[in-house]
Amino acid sequence: MAAPTVSPPVWTPDQPIVQLIDVHKSFGSFEVLKGVSFDVKKGEVICIIGPSGSGKSTLIRCINALVPVSSGTIRVENIEVADPKLDKLALRRKVGMVFQQYNLFPHKTALQNVMMAPIHVLGQDKREVEERARDLLKKVRLSGKEGSYPGELSGGQQQRVAIARSLAMRPDVMLFDEVTAALDPETVKEVLVTIRELAEEGMTCLLVTHEMNFARDIADHIYFTDRGVIVEHGPPATFFTAASDPRTREFLSQVL
Ligand SMILES: Nc1ncnc2c1ncn2[C@@H]1O[C@H](COP(=O)(O)OP(=O)(O)OP(=O)(O)O)[C@@H](O)[C@H]1O
Ligand SMILES: [Mg+2]
Repeated sequence: MAAPTVSPPVWTPDQPIVQLIDVHKSFGSFEVLKGVSFDVKKGEVICIIGPSGSGKSTLIRCINALVPVSSGTIRVENIEVADPKLDKLALRRKVGMVFQQYNLFPHKTALQNVMMAPIHVLGQDKREVEERARDLLKKVRLSGKEGSYPGELSGGQQQRVAIARSLAMRPDVMLFDEVTAALDPETVKEVLVTIRELAEEGMTCLLVTHEMNFARDIADHIYFTDRGVIVEHGPPATFFTAASDPRTREFLSQVL
């Protein structure tokens, strides 16, 4: 008898858009994530903070399958990220990621950088993609810089090209890993403004950040990680004023 076909579960917007259940990750014998669980609802802004080496980047990289989990479940809408038969392209269409290092192609203009993935990965129509790329550069306040090469742009401008490039795939969720950490103080603000505008438009965002004022301002929910576990979490109003765990208190006393 043939095995019954299982249709993929249908995701509806009232369900978490990102869901982590008991996620573990080891590199060799070193366990970096020791059972992390949380849900993100559509349109929510989540900030992940914590000491260096606590597993923040690893966690966020697991969500878009740059790092395979050791055990546990990660779902993005109806995609099971840990599925060995994962359709990575389907995941890339849902999840955009921006890193500390912008990784733009140096020999391509800002416009070409934004246009590349939709044309070469998704095979979309060039003229349509170009129109959208120009709109995206306008959105990140880089009108006039379409023809500039990365080497002709400031760090903050390059990072905004990287954000536009990620948005060109029309993701449902954006992941940001310390995207302002390498920037000069005067260009940090313009990148944060871009992220804020995205969040205000309803983009679901997960940010690893050490910009505490920004996190306090923008996040619906803060997660504090230490040594591979979520030690404490809550909305900014209570998190920053009434943290109960000594590790959270110590961290906040150093960064605030
Ligand atoms: N590919 C890898 N192989 C081995 N160990 C790794 C790998 N990636 C990360 N680690 C280790 O996992 C731990 C967590 O790293 P991770 O980059 O997730 O920390 P983080 O919280 O993002 O730190 P930071 O604030 O410094 O960016 C670190 O001890 C790191 O050395
Ligand atoms: Mg990191």
